[in-house]
Amino acid sequence: MISVQGLAKTYAGGNVRAIDGVDFQVETGKIFTLLGPSGCGKTTSLRSVAGLEQPDAGEINLFGETVFSSTRGISLHPSKRKIGMVFQSYAIWPHMTVLQNIAYPLKGKGLSRAQIESKAREALRMVDLEGFEDRPAPKLSGGQQQRVALARAIASDPRIFLFDEPLSNLDAKLREEMRGHIRALQRKLGITSLYVTHDQVEALSISDFIAVMEKGKIVEVGAPRDIYLHPTSRFAAQFVGLTNIMPAKLRHGDAGDTVRVDLPFTSLLCQGLTTKAHSKGDSLMVLLRPENVRVSSSSFNCETNEWRGRVISSIFLGEFIDCTIACGDFQVRARVNPFHQFEDGAEVYLHIAPERFSLLTA
Ligand SMILES: Nc1ncnc2c1ncn2[C@@H]1O[C@H](COP(=O)(O)OP(=O)(O)O)[C@@H](O)[C@H]1O
Ligand SMILES: [Mg+2]
Repeated sequence: MISVQGLAKTYAGGNVRAIDGVDFQVETGKIFTLLGPSGCGKTTSLRSVAGLEQPDAGEINLFGETVFSSTRGISLHPSKRKIGMVFQSYAIWPHMTVLQNIAYPLKGKGLSRAQIESKAREALRMVDLEGFEDRPAPKLSGGQQQRVALARAIASDPRIFLFDEPLSNLDAKLREEMRGHIRALQRKLGITSLYVTHDQVEALSISDFIAVMEKGKIVEVGAPRDIYLHPTSRFAAQFVGLTNIMPAKLRHGDAGDTVRVDLPFTSLLCQGLTTKAHSKGDSLMVLLRPENVRVSSSSFNCETNEWRGRVISSIFLGEFIDCTIACGDFQVRARVNPFHQFEDGAEVYLHIAPERFSLLTA
């Protein structure tokens, strides 16, 4: 397990607070992602775990061993932390062959030549690059170079993997392919991994758990499904995917876990949400993902959660139509099936299933 507590680091003589009290735990064998916009402190956190950055405060434990503690004056050298790292830049050595690139870091560790070669070949096999041993490393595509970097990390028998935006230099299609590759390999090897990205789809697809970061702090931790479907912070709701955030007031609990909320332009029945901490009249925010808004030019004939709006714009994007619909003073974004067609200015009906909302305290 990776355990990080109270990590803090400032730069520029204390003027830049890069991370400010970061806590998280990565369970053994899991892949845990720090997700957030550029400059929120992801790399600083990751480099602190690697030992490449000296935090001002905090404690880092790797499988029960304290590798950093500001209060106890512990700071284990990076080479002693048994970490495999993969960065955005491929960091391959251009004057070496593929096999030499992987074998090089294994030298001077008391292994025989034959052992080094066998380890390097085994790592190449893991990343599906058998047959590329003698190829000069620069004569590989970007994706292949990144796989060499991955093989090099594997060959050193790390206790943990650290990934810092490893796919950012690849084109979209390759990124998707490498994402699957890293995920499958991590599962197969069962190596506890800390992954850093600003790309929400990457985080959702690769992670067991995601920590959403904002301005040097973790604002929310959860499984991908929970982070996306039931975010508990406004920041996570807006950063991970697109969401409508609508102001509402709690009218009263209807029955069981069903509540009615009043919006400026309609009233909604919401199901499966806990509003225990709230009472009648409380201000809330209703979160609604665009893909959960149904839009039609005729009525759905639903007694609840149906209202009317006017199409402001509808942009055809192939997979779906990105619709913006005026509902009173509010604009609702909706993802509509591409076989629909709406004219700008058309009157439409909207409907939302009661269980497809999230609520946040305003
Ligand atoms: N060596 C440095 N000197 C000064 N400021 C730095 C240094 N490294 C990072 N920072 C600042 O710390 C903040 C966090 O940076 P970083 O951890 O790299 O964020 P991220 O990886 O999420 O983009 C940013 O404001 C960045 O400009
Ligand atoms: Mg970074």
